[in-house]
Amino acid sequence: MRESHRIAFNVNGRRRSLDVAAHHTLLDVIRDDLELTGTKECCLVGECGACTVIVDGRVVDACLVLAVEADGAEITTVEGLAVDGDLAALQAAFLDTGAVQCGFCTPGQLIAAHALLAENPHPTIAEIQEGLAGNLCRCGCYGQITEAVRAVAGEIAP
Ligand code: FES
Ligand code: FES
Repeated sequence: MRESHRIAFNVNGRRRSLDVAAHHTLLDVIRDDLELTGTKECCLVGECGACTVIVDGRVVDACLVLAVEADGAEITTVEGLAVDGDLAALQAAFLDTGAVQCGFCTPGQLIAAHALLAENPHPTIAEIQEGLAGNLCRCGCYGQITEAVRAVAGEIAP
């Protein structure tokens, strides 16, 4: 039998406590145990950003973090961005600017953009591009994603 560990953390403001296998990643636990499937699984080697979440204020690739390492952490996934069931301004801006095509990269882009705006509410285009550099979009929506972030930052009309 594989070794398991009891861990507890806050996910989107809700306390969660569960037994996890020592080798399971935070991504495994978020998607499979907590059934928060907004966070996507893709490259599994830290290249694409589809699995981006915020852990204790830091943007991380959940595929590169063992679940046991997140014990005690404060975690935000894309499901945590909505406010009282309504889309957050950033999510609405992604729709308004056409930043979503297939949508597979979108949760990771949103989380990275959310973290960027929390740290730097008025980023320049270069700062947005740098802040989202770890998030790939195979549909090539980079221009629209940047526009959405700028719209929320108040740089341009949505
Ligand atoms: S699935 Fe984690 S970075 Fe690609
Ligand atoms: S919208 Fe399809 S990968 Fe980004």
